[in-house]
Amino acid sequence: MVIRSEALGCGAYLPERVLTNQELATLVDTSDEWIRARTGIIERRIAAEGELTSDLAVKASEAALAASGVTPDEVDLIVLATATPDYTFPSTATTVQARLGMDHGAAFDVQAVCSGFIYALATADNFIRAGQAGTALVIGAETFSRILDWTDRGTCVLFGDGAGALVIRGAECPGASSDRGVLSTHLHSDGRQRDLLYVDGGPSSTQTVGHLRMEGREVFRHAVTNLAAVVNEALVANGLEPDDIDWLVPHQANQRILDATARKLGMPAERVISTVARHANTSAASVPLALAEAVEDGRIKRGDLLLLEAMGGGFTWGASLLRW
Ligand code: ACO
Repeated sequence: MVIRSEALGCGAYLPERVLTNQELATLVDTSDEWIRARTGIIERRIAAEGELTSDLAVKASEAALAASGVTPDEVDLIVLATATPDYTFPSTATTVQARLGMDHGAAFDVQAVCSGFIYALATADNFIRAGQAGTALVIGAETFSRILDWTDRGTCVLFGDGAGALVIRGAECPGASSDRGVLSTHLHSDGRQRDLLYVDGGPSSTQTVGHLRMEGREVFRHAVTNLAAVVNEALVANGLEPDDIDWLVPHQANQRILDATARKLGMPAERVISTVARHANTSAASVPLALAEAVEDGRIKRGDLLLLEAMGGGFTWGASLLRW
């Protein structure tokens, strides 16, 4: 028997304010047609003034805990992925811990930009399998609107705000690929590619928050190659074929990247969860937001095999196979 991290439930939260492509076209030299054709994005959500990453994270966490039938007392680990924390410190995770009324366990942030949720899931899964945690709350939460250069049409049209959360709990099982839980996680990074996607500020360098900078075309090229490789790695590690996957739950950067990854896997569009049209790229929040939407609307059912994958600044990228 082995310990595996079983998914108990998930939840999501999106800020109320909707920013459409048409509205963006009044701010920068762009058009609804260009944004839709190049990215698939129609609109995105923007956090209200004073609404912080932790506020989004708490709402998503409360929804995930309710869906799981788990109280904060039962959680002994919070791993929160974000590149847009409330403050330089303390971590946004400890703010969430306090807001959930927890006075026990451990909480910390992980920073892997858009791959953050996969990194957070891998971290929590390893804590659980090592016996160091029993029940973990894994969160992806972002307010990317706060680090965008709203005069740069090449980047400001691509991102949005939101949060998603997942509750996982260690349970013994024989360890077959048909058993529920996280089958495996696979993480990679390559710091040499830093200049293709970065934020031009930070506490130690400029003492400012900075703005997101990106070579979009280059990022696109690397994303398609790296995602195909890590997805294949996850399948091979578990002796599985693309046909075994019920749902691809990808990071929502661009519909064209989603389509390219699905094509490489030979997966039909109907088995790919896509939320990029309404959410845009919410960085670390995008995978759990997509997951929560498809669980909520009944597409993802207990026992389904999910392939989660993401690629982000760093570069970082990763994948996980999860039997729901
Ligand atoms: N509206 C209108 N025109 C625009 C806009 C815009 N919003 N943005 C750029 N353009 C123009 C450019 O100026 C360029 O014009 P030119 O040919 O006269 O110079 C033209 O459109 C083409 O620009 P490209 O950047 O080459 O366009 P491309 O087809 O590559 O699409 C895009 C750009 C959508 C950014 C694409 O490259 C992409 O999605 N890349 C991946 C981005 C990504 O996934 N980022 C997130 C990674 S995850 C993370 O960690 C944050």
